[in-house]
Amino acid sequence: MGGLDHCYNIADLREVARRRLPKGVFEYVDKGTEDMVALGNNRRAFEDLKLLNRILVDVSDVKMDTTIFGKPASLPMVIAPTGIAGLCWYEGEYELAKAAAKAGLPFTLATGSNTPMEKVAEAGGRPWFQLYMWREKELSYELVRRAAAAGFETLIWTVDIGHGANREHNARNGFSQPYKVNAKSIVDMLSHPEWMLNVIGRYITSSGMPEHINYPAKYRDKFTGKKSQDKALRADQVSWADVEKLREIWPGKLVIKGIMRADDARRALDHGADGIVVSNHGGRNMDSAPATLDVLPSIAQAVGDRTTIFVDSGVRRGSDIVKCLALGADAVLTGRATLYGIGAGGEAGALKALSVLKDEMRRTMAYIGKQRVADINGDDIWRGGN
Ligand code: LAC
Repeated sequence: MGGLDHCYNIADLREVARRRLPKGVFEYVDKGTEDMVALGNNRRAFEDLKLLNRILVDVSDVKMDTTIFGKPASLPMVIAPTGIAGLCWYEGEYELAKAAAKAGLPFTLATGSNTPMEKVAEAGGRPWFQLYMWREKELSYELVRRAAAAGFETLIWTVDIGHGANREHNARNGFSQPYKVNAKSIVDMLSHPEWMLNVIGRYITSSGMPEHINYPAKYRDKFTGKKSQDKALRADQVSWADVEKLREIWPGKLVIKGIMRADDARRALDHGADGIVVSNHGGRNMDSAPATLDVLPSIAQAVGDRTTIFVDSGVRRGSDIVKCLALGADAVLTGRATLYGIGAGGEAGALKALSVLKDEMRRTMAYIGKQRVADINGDDIWRGGN
């Protein structure tokens, strides 16, 4: 269909993905939780924050590159873990990892992905791994050791989903994690024959129905739906001591994701984390959460001088990345923005998303008169008045 040529921004990629994907898959990616309040808060906070343009300074040599954990990155950006990439495209995680490697950015593989972690590591670049802690913690440690052996360089532990999320739209669409297929979702899938053929069809003719391939064997759920292992996945018996335990067994950088309070940020560092992700999970978990942009300044003030701060939840434009940096983040994570790219066109779509964000960021830096990422700061934000 060649839809990518007509995509000028992330919203265009989202629209192509919306048309291509079954409703259940698309809404799993696109929506938040319950009444979508947190989802709206995230976007509104970006829209409400204004940057000041600075005139008559040389902006002929704007550069968006930076370093993340001491290694070069072409943008202050990491691809966020998103478990569903493998249903947006055949081995979508692998496609996304290849795009990230080509673009010079770290890529994070989700625990709940459909492609074996060892294959994703082969995409090259800088593979990171995201962990959910199972109640049977030893099973999680095994996964962590496996990720280390496969060459993943950073571990992101997601800690904001203790009892699972109340995403009513998924239940309504007959599409939950673990997947349970019903009459409604079968009609949904069959009415997207290109997707059926090129995603489900390719899994069937290679490795079989998509499943949570990186889970321990006893917890794997085929797309066709086995008994839910939801309880086993509940992470409601974890504590700060688990950060220290992970610190012991993980040789690389350790990042804690899902921090929304300055006191939790301090604790994460005190227990050995190398970085934090200020995140409300893209508005997908607690619908009463404030926007991450609203809590970022207090967290940056508390720990910004002694750690690496990532922020996610709502980045859709290059200007949004600049806003995060101006409020004290070192880099952003992008989940949906690059996932829309995967859903629209696999690796090519992800590369398109990345080039769009990069170009938008360059223009924004030129407007505010900043040629280097390190120079972006609070002085670039309009505080009201004149
Ligand atoms: C999500 C969880 C599973 O879908 O990370 O957001």
